Amino acid sequence: MGAPAQIATAASWRSDFPALAQDIHGQPLVYLDSAASSQQPAAVIDAVARYHREDHANVHRGVHTLSHRATEAYEGARDKVVGFINASSRSEIVMTSGTTESINLVAQSYCRPRLQTGDKIVITHLEHHANIVPWQLVCEQTGAELVVAPINDRGELELEQMLEQIDDRVCLVAVAHVSNALGTVCPLSRIVEHCRARGIPVLVDGAQGVPHLQVDVQDLGCDFYAFSAHKMFGPTGTGVLYGREELLDAMPPWQGGGDMILEVSFEKTVYNELPYKFEAGTPNISGVVGLGAAIDYLQGIGMDRVAEYEHELHDYMVSELRKVPGIRLFGEAHDKASAQSFLVDDIHSHDLGTILDHQGVAIRTGHHCAMPVMQRFGISGTARASLALYNNRDDVDRLVEALGKAKEIFG
Ligand SMILES: Cc1ncc(COP(=O)(O)O)c(C=O)c1O
Repeated sequence: MGAPAQIATAASWRSDFPALAQDIHGQPLVYLDSAASSQQPAAVIDAVARYHREDHANVHRGVHTLSHRATEAYEGARDKVVGFINASSRSEIVMTSGTTESINLVAQSYCRPRLQTGDKIVITHLEHHANIVPWQLVCEQTGAELVVAPINDRGELELEQMLEQIDDRVCLVAVAHVSNALGTVCPLSRIVEHCRARGIPVLVDGAQGVPHLQVDVQDLGCDFYAFSAHKMFGPTGTGVLYGREELLDAMPPWQGGGDMILEVSFEKTVYNELPYKFEAGTPNISGVVGLGAAIDYLQGIGMDRVAEYEHELHDYMVSELRKVPGIRLFGEAHDKASAQSFLVDDIHSHDLGTILDHQGVAIRTGHHCAMPVMQRFGISGTARASLALYNNRDDVDRLVEALGKAKEIFG
């Protein structure tokens, strides 16, 4: 497909997102903070509003029409997730409040009953705090050890060293699909292949994977895959834990309450079947409806097109940023998606972020909930621009122009 056709298509994607059509401090908004939370297309906003206006009731337990409709909408969204990540069945899709809860669920329900003193969990130096702290907690609870695979100066995993760290005391390996701070795409297939041969499950933190890359959990061969709706054009407070059925089946419930049971007496409770065993209490029904609409939206475009478009735009962003005098890029891995971290001269990242905001350019600054990444590079934080399918080359040009202004101010 030629470049002009790509640009025309992307322009129409952008107009699907009402929040982007506004001025900030008198300038058209350039939104480059999608790694923190993406904007929502009208299709998602409308689906959630329609649900609230017409269909809202509690799910599963009701015999009346609205409850049937709410249940259909909620369970219909689960079916969409199955197709979106190519799970084997709806039993493998647990609705959670987000990536963080999904990872905590696995730490407490899969690892905690299995871990003993001297056992290990392997993570990487790239991880978001959500894929560090839950493992630290379970290690503290059980006497297990947290092992951290190193990264190099380009922000790539030192894969051979990581594979050597994965020995027969390892209970689980947890790794990001894409680093939120550096944009590195991790070599999942090599890691999964190595772990599968040793019978070690792999959890993938897919928070930054699903919005940008085609994800096929069966093809990846991972055992768990966690992600959040709000980073893929859906609402906040909603997410997914994919788990291989065999593993989820063998895990005890994580939280107790309504909906996760078949029968309760004071003597004994019989738990519900998968995936409901892990969904205690009233779920975030409207959030899940919004997630379903976000999946429809992304599938309407096609994840292969999203990935191709963003890849080209990311390359353009990096090449333009490199032209800014005094810039230091953090995260120069061979395989990258969406995010680019940087610093300019000795301007503090928060100052950069504030000056850019005054020019209508929204970026994220600070440690990005990845303090160990910052420690690895000897810095306290970075400025980070992260792309989504609604961004274009003009956005990148505005970013670079705004950085020039920041340099003038601090000159
Ligand atoms: C790589 C990664 N993992 C986990 C999370 C946590 O996601 P949430 O706060 O939606 O649970 C984030 C959020 O930025 C992330 O980027």
